[in-house]
Amino acid sequence: MNIAATINDIRHCVRSARQAGKRVGLVPTMGALHAGHGSLIEQAAKECDYVVVSIFVNPTQFGPNEDFARYPRTFDQDVAYCQRLGADVIFAPTAEQMYPHPQRTWVEVEKLTDGLCGASRPGHFRGVTTVCAKLFNIVTPDVAYFGQKDAQQAVVIRRMVEDLNFPMTIRVCPIVREPDGLAMSSRNRYLSPAERQKAVCLYQALETCRRDFAQGCRAANGLIEHMRGLIEGAGGRIDYICIVDFETLEPVETITRPTLVAVAVFFGSTRLIDNCVLCLHQTENNVQ
Ligand code: PAJ
Repeated sequence: MNIAATINDIRHCVRSARQAGKRVGLVPTMGALHAGHGSLIEQAAKECDYVVVSIFVNPTQFGPNEDFARYPRTFDQDVAYCQRLGADVIFAPTAEQMYPHPQRTWVEVEKLTDGLCGASRPGHFRGVTTVCAKLFNIVTPDVAYFGQKDAQQAVVIRRMVEDLNFPMTIRVCPIVREPDGLAMSSRNRYLSPAERQKAVCLYQALETCRRDFAQGCRAANGLIEHMRGLIEGAGGRIDYICIVDFETLEPVETITRPTLVAVAVFFGSTRLIDNCVLCLHQTENNVQ
């Protein structure tokens, strides 16, 4: 496995793979890799002949009061993990490589970024879409792999790729969870043992929502209030609980089509997100 630290290096690696007729997969990450990232790398290794994992803690997607400086950086472990999972190259640029000058060109996806995390993290998605557009232009993958864990991010990136005609496919893979149901996240390591115990209430609330829905509850407000009680009862501070259309991310009042239930909750100073999808024709096992 190679490690490319510069844009020239990674372009060279990908060019050689292309010349050998290989299908190129990209897994964009910010490192501190866990089994959630691992599932994307494994999927890429199944479907592609040449797997690029990018590791870059992207400064432009963090707000001024967010955790950019303390975001976990575990590069040596990440390298070993990527190697074990069959990645071919890690692209690990410095901020100077990615942003040599003040960035004057930004990619913004309208409307889809107004609600959910976009409302509580102004500028976040502009940073995400801009860095992904740069990564797509640098790596030129055939397929890029994203996790359903960041459901809004996946919708936004799909739309960017469609609107800007990037010649590539976006694949979205299911949420990987800890044995007790907590969605894996690089930020879980910020949790104290007590917060870690409370945090499982996110999954339990989503499971309850799924059960309410399976029993016929179709009113978004009823579902939300039940989840709110459970999460607040467990000691979580709710940023949002939203029930929105799976594609447009517009709020839904009565569930009649595939619907995303998305939550963002603080445990102490750590903000965690999770979600599930409700489908009318498939009411069992649809919390991924
Ligand atoms: P990061 O948080 O490192 O996540 C990288 C990818 O892993 C994302 O597509 C995310 O949805 C996926 N992922 C994280 N936890 C997961 C889980 N438990 N199950 C399945 N997939 C999971 O998302 C980012 O980085 C950045 O915004 C990035 C896209 C790299 C742009 O900087």
